[in-house]
Amino acid sequence: MSKSLENEHLMHENKVLPPANWAANHPSKPSLASFEEYEELYRHSINDPEAFFGEQARKELSWSRDFDLVKYPKTGFNASWFLNGQLNACYNCVDRHAFANPDKPAIIYEADEPNEGSIITYSELLAKVSQLAQVLVSLGVRKGDTVAVYLPMIPEAVITILAITRIGAIHSVVFAGFSSGALRDRINNADSKIVITADESKRGGKIIETKKIVDEALKEAPQVKNVIVVKRTGNRHVPFNANGRDLWYHDEIVKFKTYFPPTPVNSEDPLFLLYTSGSTGKPKGIQHCTAGYLLGALLTTKYTFDVNPNDILFTAGDIGWITGHTYVIYGPLLNGATTVVFEGTPAYPNFSRYWKIVEQHRVTQFYVAPTALRLLKKAGDKFIEGHDLSSLRSLGSVGEPIAPEIWEWYNEKIGQGRCTIQDTYWQTETGSIVITPLAGITPTKPGSASLPFFGIDVAILDPTTGKELQGNNVEGVLAIKQAWPSVTRSIWGDFGRFNETYFKPYPGYFFTGDGGARDKDGFYWVLGRVDDVVNVSGHRLSTAEIEAAIIENPLVAENAVVGYSHDLTGQAIASFVALKNKNLSGTQVEDAKKQIILGVRKEIGPFAAPKVIFIVDDLPKTRSGKIMRRILRKILAGEEDQLGDTSTLSNPPIVQHLIDAVKSSK
Ligand code: WTA
Repeated sequence: MSKSLENEHLMHENKVLPPANWAANHPSKPSLASFEEYEELYRHSINDPEAFFGEQARKELSWSRDFDLVKYPKTGFNASWFLNGQLNACYNCVDRHAFANPDKPAIIYEADEPNEGSIITYSELLAKVSQLAQVLVSLGVRKGDTVAVYLPMIPEAVITILAITRIGAIHSVVFAGFSSGALRDRINNADSKIVITADESKRGGKIIETKKIVDEALKEAPQVKNVIVVKRTGNRHVPFNANGRDLWYHDEIVKFKTYFPPTPVNSEDPLFLLYTSGSTGKPKGIQHCTAGYLLGALLTTKYTFDVNPNDILFTAGDIGWITGHTYVIYGPLLNGATTVVFEGTPAYPNFSRYWKIVEQHRVTQFYVAPTALRLLKKAGDKFIEGHDLSSLRSLGSVGEPIAPEIWEWYNEKIGQGRCTIQDTYWQTETGSIVITPLAGITPTKPGSASLPFFGIDVAILDPTTGKELQGNNVEGVLAIKQAWPSVTRSIWGDFGRFNETYFKPYPGYFFTGDGGARDKDGFYWVLGRVDDVVNVSGHRLSTAEIEAAIIENPLVAENAVVGYSHDLTGQAIASFVALKNKNLSGTQVEDAKKQIILGVRKEIGPFAAPKVIFIVDDLPKTRSGKIMRRILRKILAGEEDQLGDTSTLSNPPIVQHLIDAVKSSK
């Protein structure tokens, strides 16, 4: 290499082979026999994606009408897959398994309080989705309508999502940690007329007044006709609009029969929307289609984690995010496996909770964000001791980079020499995993997501020229070269923004927004976002969205939000605020900070609140008034000697002022 690479140290890591006895200890047969088989299939999937995915789609999914053509047009990202095919997502997730194995558990519900859960078999699931589907039809929901879902991690969340798909409607799940303002914006953007929610939620022993938040949101969502309310706690004081708008879930479903036929939809018909954060303040409704998404969810679950129908998968992620969609619901159920729906937190009633669940239900695959692992490692190994983790075969990691020391801890303490680690890289937009080692067969390197999944043609691009960097030992931005079935099809109602965001920055490529490197062995390393997206505890946040919430505060003149690295949450939010009145007293300033935090909690949600706020006189700006966030990031990281080019600053003395502001608060 002529050019020196910032992350060159990554290039020297050596590969760790999967445990030698992994395949021998397998209860049945691994999904793939060898690494060579992966390599061969991967080559085939890239050289002839139509043959590869056409065959997989016919083999793995159940169609009510076979497709005529695998992909059209053959090149470019504006592609449709499985043309003229018809199928139903709920049928693929539920009916076909209920017919074959009615008594097999589909969902293991682990409630917030240990021992308060339940098990739902495939035949029970079919009955429940059928009943709720009819409730939705009776309320006027039709194919192509969106339905908003604001529910905690309870079985009704899975039932609701599947019931919506059963009638060809489109689910729009809003993470139940979002505030009323964020919920309102998402309901309105999707023009949802029905909201499904709960009276209250329980998490980590605490009660959340879910219905109240919905009521607040609906004050400015006049198109919403009905709210279906699941009774989670049954507390009597929960507000309920009795004049026809609000309906109790449990009262409604019993009015209907336990079988209702699914509505076939076209392959490309939208399956769901999921809002995610981008570079601008306005959240985008990432739109996924039916067949391509289902195939991606099915195949990645099967091959990444080596899931077979006897497996019990525990994805400790919320259904409000893409990980919950793809690996709590669709992936496990499409494979006819059992999925654990966990309502609580890793810390309640104590730090053994995950391992208790693994032991009690004989979990075979466990999948979580590194933020939880950091917390558990810090809590101490005594919380693991005495738990039988021998059922586990694969341990997944998702949503943020996993530091090598956390990887090693996960591997040793939880894997105990029996498991392989799947560091899975993907995004809301990719629908399913795009770079990952496959369980039991791909060699791993702590901290690297390793190699691409079938059909994913990864490119590392020079960030400035957009030229593809060939060969190994290269670093740049991470992009994907050809379309694959589960990639997002649009941003809801804004195809222009969709093209602008993902395809315009580097023409001919899907741009991920992440930095990336390919090391000496061709292994991929994800180096974090290169845009204004921050990852806090695995939650993807837009700095622009937080800034927009802060500027709502009448005391604030200007503000800039940046991420900085944090031991426990991966990244944390720092906010630099210039107040309108520069002469406030100490207590008035403290008060202003509190109000700013409250404002973000109210506009977005508690998880987006700044960890630190620096009150400053001014922000670093270019002459054209653009805030130079790079300078703020460097000062926060203590790298004020590496500020780079500051010649475009309109107010150079601001740098020292900012350094002092940060230092004095430490
Ligand atoms: C980051 C979550 C490093 C990345 C599934 C990406 C990761 C963003 C990894 C998407 C990983 C996800 N290693 N970084 N294994 N997985 N990311 O849409 O920055 O919530 O762009 O999807 O998370 O976040 P999202």
